Amino acid sequence: MNLIFLGPPGAGKGTQAKLLQARRGIPQISTGDILREAIARGSALGQRAKGYVERGDLVPDEVMVGIIAERLSQPDTSDGFILDGFPRTVAQARSLEELLARLGRKITAVVYFDLPEEKIVRRLSGRLICARCGAIYHVEHHPPRQPGICDVDGGPLYRRDDDQPEVVRKRIQVYREETQPLVAFYRERGLLHVVDASQGVETLYQSILQIAGVPPEGGERQAEAWADR
Ligand code: AP5
Repeated sequence: MNLIFLGPPGAGKGTQAKLLQARRGIPQISTGDILREAIARGSALGQRAKGYVERGDLVPDEVMVGIIAERLSQPDTSDGFILDGFPRTVAQARSLEELLARLGRKITAVVYFDLPEEKIVRRLSGRLICARCGAIYHVEHHPPRQPGICDVDGGPLYRRDDDQPEVVRKRIQVYREETQPLVAFYRERGLLHVVDASQGVETLYQSILQIAGVPPEGGERQAEAWADR
């Protein structure tokens, strides 16, 4: 099962990828997480990516393609993977096709998270993330049991710098110009599955399980913890 999760900022790609990863044991490959970790470590990649991520711009294609080529060569991806946040441009999508062809692999399905723009802003302005384990919360839709503390490991919760309103506006504009064309790209290839990302987490999760060909029952405890609204 080789999946791409495609959609605007804050559509719920990371939330669903983590649920599916826990259920199927295939890795979520989040290019945003990889970049944020590199920035936090101050590595060469982090120093190169920092300005782009802070402004809400895309990191150059050749950097991102290099990251993905290296990640997909690792053995934990052999039974499948969930690409979360990659590809984001048509050039990245073409490079991915070439890379997978060389590896003798193919994308199974592209899940497109369809969400209206006004909901994007609401979701991102309320997002909280655990600094230790990366668990994702929302002040209204999925608050932690104790304010500021992760339910999973007690780590401190933080807000992403690029979730500030002016950066979110830029990310939405970049998404429209650079990433939205991938909807047509994957539709033409017969791979696109559109889901209504404004549904509650559990309902959306069931749709994604169906697309991924995973039986619906069992293992949904994390999703059930969500207030479905
Ligand atoms: P990245 O980290 O990939 O950000 P993004 O694509 O903008 O997506 P987000 O992580 O913001 O949202 P999400 O869809 O995962 O939503 P989430 O599940 O968290 O990229 C960041 C930056 O890195 C980019 O701007 C760029 O600079 C760079 N970058 C990354 N990849 C790149 C690439 N390939 N090429 C070039 N540059 C790249 O949910 C959001 C909130 O909503 C949470 O609070 C959550 O609790 C809540 N929520 C989720 N689902 C629901 C629901 N169903 N109902 C109600 N609330 C929900």
